Amino acid sequence: MSRILDKDLYQSGLQKMDWAFRYMPALMGIHKRFSDEKPLKGIDISLSVHMEAKTANLVTTLAAGGANVYATGCNPLSTQDDVAAALAFKGFEVNAVYGVGYGDYVAQLKATLDNEPHVIVDDGGDLLSLLHDEYKHRSNKVIGGCEETTTGINRIRAMEKSGRLAFPMISVNDGRCKHLFDNRYGTGQSVMDGIIRTTNMLIAGKNVVIAGYGWCGRGIALRARGLGAKIIICEIDPVKAYEATMEGFSVLSMDEAAEIGEMFITVTGCKDVICKRHFSKMKDGVVLANAGHFNVEINMDDLAGASVRIEQARKNIDSYIQKDGRRINVIAEGRLVNLAAADGHPIEIMDMSFALQALSVEYLVKHRGSFEKKLYPVPEEIDNEVARVKLQSEGICIDSLTPEQHAYLYGE
Ligand code: NAI
Repeated sequence: MSRILDKDLYQSGLQKMDWAFRYMPALMGIHKRFSDEKPLKGIDISLSVHMEAKTANLVTTLAAGGANVYATGCNPLSTQDDVAAALAFKGFEVNAVYGVGYGDYVAQLKATLDNEPHVIVDDGGDLLSLLHDEYKHRSNKVIGGCEETTTGINRIRAMEKSGRLAFPMISVNDGRCKHLFDNRYGTGQSVMDGIIRTTNMLIAGKNVVIAGYGWCGRGIALRARGLGAKIIICEIDPVKAYEATMEGFSVLSMDEAAEIGEMFITVTGCKDVICKRHFSKMKDGVVLANAGHFNVEINMDDLAGASVRIEQARKNIDSYIQKDGRRINVIAEGRLVNLAAADGHPIEIMDMSFALQALSVEYLVKHRGSFEKKLYPVPEEIDNEVARVKLQSEGICIDSLTPEQHAYLYGE
């Protein structure tokens, strides 16, 4: 039985799903093929991905392939209750309610695993982690799973290294059609969208500090620069830091940046990137947002400890008032700003990420039994296929090698 906020919200959820699906040609094509071929017949899938319209279309696509899909979110603040209701209306078991506390969130994840899945589709590694610890007894049937994001991949790599990984996982995040687009252009646009729609503030002319110049960070820097911001990058990797200087960005330590930044965006996958000593240096009125997977990048306990009062300044913005009267404003409690304060990545981007997910699930099922307990890349042919469909859908033709060129580059 589904646990959602209100089943009567389904109509607006269905509308959001329909709207998104129209701009998801790759997933639409897979949906159609899956409906004909039923490659996932009888497969139980537990899915924990941000519960919004594009994800809901992934759920229906997997189901079109014959799978029984049990769905939940991967962050209580990114769940859209109307979308959860729409999926429940379509007959799926959904356990997702916006804004629940940590205990209820874990209960939702567990409920999603109660069917004992063959496959998991995870975003951040919480399902995987439960199946290795507290909920190990639900892992008997697992063939493998697919992981959506960098933080989840980091967790899998650590488990693989210590010999704890109990089943194969496919690193969807490392697919070229994922991180080159989703992490970079998707996060770039949607993070700025979340900040702008929540604060209604001007970006042009502002000192915008971005911590982390990885795939996401460089996307955010690109888009914020396009809006006229003066970009300051904070990094720990010397090569990436130097790359940022070549892009014309200022590179500073967070200790230096804290004094001059007006807007701060963390996107590192690390914790305590902004902490006590930084808050004490910040200007009055600064805005802090996080785009990393977990809400640990801005140390919210440190901030609360340093504050005399917390006021809600506007929907999704809390002002932490400091002893000297300075206000430090935090969007969406330091959770992923583009999902907790906006609609997540643009549809066309998630079309690619979720096409990779659907095809990777199919690949896992088709080749079951042939994997070791390891992290596997997305097969190259899947990556190429998704890009080919996207090009086709936009009417773009590309060149191909002649046999002579092929031989010249790769030998006979
Ligand atoms: P990445 O590994 O490409 O980049 C992370 C960067 O942060 C690296 O360059 C690393 O050197 C740097 N870094 C690590 N610790 C740092 C610290 N203490 N201070 C400064 N820099 C530090 O990872 P990617 O793909 O950019 O992902 C970053 C985070 O964003 C992850 O948590 C990932 O799961 C999440 N993510 C969020 C999305 C969203 O929709 N908001 C979408 C995709 C990923």
